[in-house]
Amino acid sequence: MSSLSIRTSRGTYEVLVGAGFLAKEISAQTAVIVDPAVRLTTPGRTPVIAFEAHEGVKTLAGVERVLISMHEAGVRRGSSLGAVGGGVIQDVATLASSIYMRGINWTYAPTTMMAMLDSCIGGKSSINVAGIKNLVGNIYPPERVIVDVSVAQSLPIEARIAGYAEAAKICFAGGSASFDQFLALAPTAAQFASDTHMEESILLTKHVLKVKQWFIETDEFDRQERLILNFGHTFAHALESALDFALPHGVAVAIGMAAAIRYNDPRTSASRALDDYVAGMARQLPGDFSGRLAHPDWERFQRALESDKKGSAAYLRFVLAAQDGSLSLQERDRSRTTIEDATAAARQALEDFTRRVGEQT
Ligand SMILES: NC(=O)c1ccc[n+]([C@@H]2O[C@H](COP(=O)([O-])OP(=O)(O)OC[C@H]3O[C@@H](n4cnc5c(N)ncnc54)[C@H](O)[C@@H]3O)[C@@H](O)[C@H]2O)c1
Repeated sequence: MSSLSIRTSRGTYEVLVGAGFLAKEISAQTAVIVDPAVRLTTPGRTPVIAFEAHEGVKTLAGVERVLISMHEAGVRRGSSLGAVGGGVIQDVATLASSIYMRGINWTYAPTTMMAMLDSCIGGKSSINVAGIKNLVGNIYPPERVIVDVSVAQSLPIEARIAGYAEAAKICFAGGSASFDQFLALAPTAAQFASDTHMEESILLTKHVLKVKQWFIETDEFDRQERLILNFGHTFAHALESALDFALPHGVAVAIGMAAAIRYNDPRTSASRALDDYVAGMARQLPGDFSGRLAHPDWERFQRALESDKKGSAAYLRFVLAAQDGSLSLQERDRSRTTIEDATAAARQALEDFTRRVGEQT
């Protein structure tokens, strides 16, 4: 087992990365919120708060339900809460821990590839309010993060691909050396579907989290450097809207990165390698996945693009690559040409991705 120490304005927390140690570690908590989809047996008598994870419960009512269960489970000011699950559990547990008795310690164990490789460090919470996704949130890092890569074995292929897409994005944003190392450690396209080797998974997870560590320590509150991690996201959010949220967010990010490359890219060897990696992901998705990509509403895409929250009254903002391969936040005027060019890039990326779905190498 190995660890990283993440520095924040509230102190330092440890991230343990290993395999097969989750149940023992988490049983030291006063109570544990667990996504029932995760196969976990906690030894001892630790009270378990089962919380089925989906967008519909990532709400203030869902948080209140958890707060009441915490009280019933005997959680007090000096207690520590455990949280075991993907991004939904993380979001709810972060906010609940931050406000319960004005804030208690908590330990997070991510169980989806996205959460293991990306969201588990950074300390953010986002809660849906009035049907608006991620409208409310805060930053309240856990006391400890336990990444047990063996837990990811039960995830379906599309959830794995969604996680690798976010990981590829982080390492691409980290520069050519970090992206080369990602490509050397990450599963090849042909390996996505098979069970991953634990040691390789641990090495990959450590690498990706280390690259992300630089961003979150340099810019804890998401004001400058960390914004680069939105690479592909302007396109991804608009595509999710155009496809009526029929695909996992990380898969939308994969297509969004391919769109950003088609929109404005100096075609460096790194961006070509990223584009190839995205194509390899598409090939590993089952053929019937293409049905979910079949009917984009391009008007809805354009409305979503125009209301992107990074934009200002005069400009749309995209994270795009420069000639030297580095990423930066770039402005484009809010003209018809900008919207049409961005739509054409997304359309091309989506067509290329869809064509490759299920096309085995
Ligand atoms: N807080 C952050 O920094 C942050 C960052 C990115 C995304 N998010 C949020 O995270 C959410 C998405 O999270 P996610 O992609 O991790 O998925 P999730 O938590 O929504 O879980 C997706 C599905 O996978 C199941 N699942 C979880 N772990 C499993 C396992 N080991 N085996 C089998 N099934 C399992 C869940 O029950 C659920 O059905 C979104 O709401 C998004 O807004 C938060």
